[in-house]
Parts: sequence; C-alpha cells; structure tokens
Amino acid sequence: MSIIASNFKTNHTRKSTASFVNEINEFLKSNDILSEVYVFPTSTALDSFDTVPNLTLGVQNAYATQKGSFTGEIGTEQLDEFAIKTILIGHSERRHVLGESQSEIAKKFAFYKELGYKIIYCIGEPLEVKQSGLEKTLEYVYEQFEGIDTNYENLILAYEPVWAIGTGVTATNDDITSVHSAIKARIAKPLLYGGSVKVGNVAEICALDGVDGALIGTASWNVEDFKQIIENTKDL
Ligand code: 13P
Repeated sequence: MSIIASNFKTNHTRKSTASFVNEINEFLKSNDILSEVYVFPTSTALDSFDTVPNLTLGVQNAYATQKGSFTGEIGTEQLDEFAIKTILIGHSERRHVLGESQSEIAKKFAFYKELGYKIIYCIGEPLEVKQSGLEKTLEYVYEQFEGIDTNYENLILAYEPVWAIGTGVTATNDDITSVHSAIKARIAKPLLYGGSVKVGNVAEICALDGVDGALIGTASWNVEDFKQIIENTKDL
C-alpha cells in the first residue's frame, strides 16, 4: 500500500486548505481507498478535521519546545490544540534555505520522538554531490542520519534529491533505485521518494523496488491532481 504525502510548503490559505482536506477526505471515503495519505499545510492553516483514519494532517515544521520565547516558531502547545502528532523533519528547504544544521535537526528529531510523533524524515543531496557519483551521494545522505535514531518505530523516511525538488527534473528510475536500495539495506523503514513527482510519473515511481510512496510538493497543490495521484497509486 502506497504512502502518499502532500507538502503544501508556503501555499494555500486556511480556507483553501480546509476545502482541500475535506475534498480529499470525501474522495478517500467514497472510493474506499486505503492508501496512507498525509497533508502538511502551513501552520496558519492547521485545524481539527474530521477525517477517515488513513488521512492524517501533519505540521511542516515546529520548534523543539512545548512553548516559550522562540519568535516565529510554534511548539507542541499549538500542535496539541489540533491533535497534530505528525511532523516533517529535515526537509531540504529547512536545511538549505533556512539554514537548519544537522545538530539542530537531530535535537528536533529527539524531542518529537520522545513525544511519540510520527516523523517523516527527509534526506537528499544537492546537485554538485550528485554529480560526483553514487558513492559520494550515499556518503552525503548517510551524514544526514547523524544523531538520528533510525530504529524509531514511528519513522518514515523520504529521499528527496535537492536538484529534483521543484525543478521539474525527476530523478531517473535508476537514480531512485540505487539510492533507495542502499538506504533500505541499512535502515528497515518505509522510504518515500520526493522531487518533481507528478500525476504522470507517480505510479511508475511508486512501483519501483524499494519505493514505498511519494512526498509531493508542486503537483499535489491542485486538489484534482492530488486525487488523481492517489487514484493512480491506490493499488500499488
Ligand atoms: P516538488 O514535488 O515540488 O518537487 O517538491 C518536492 C518536495 O520538496 C516535497 O517535500
């Protein structure tokens, strides 16, 4: 069964998020689709939604705190208000655009692990690393597991090569299977692929050996496309 996750990044309003989530919920319910579906809206759009058990709302980011003085951040007090128990950690935009270090990421991971959150933990290499070959790519990716308890029971991994994110350039099937099989040989956890996944390629990617689903940005923001993505992968 595929795991399909939509990362809204900095898109959608509170209102459009609510209609998106309700529409996806209806779609799953009326078609008896049992895929594990996640939606990560902006933190301003978090809410309590009445959903089928296989549709889960998560947060794209939060600070390793219950509450306190961390301007611009949210903590578990805000997440508890909506019973959010799922978080994305280590996304490439947080690492490379917002400058989160591996040690900050590891601290965040440990904090949310302690609270039993489902963690979707992202890893992936930038273009210059990819260009230096598979061995260097794996070395880079393995460093992103520093300080991370990869045996954590509520862990899902997502391999998202930085050069494939939001670029329209999807990794080739060979790229995906070689990295996924290497990670899988070390860490026995569900492993999603992310990076320019679209309606037209999601089924092929999710059917690859070692791929347990997809983490999708751009192509998931349109609700009809996201439904089609779920439809295309529901039997995989
Ligand atoms: P795109 O699907 O827009 O390439 O983004 C992937 C991603 O970063 C999901 O977290």
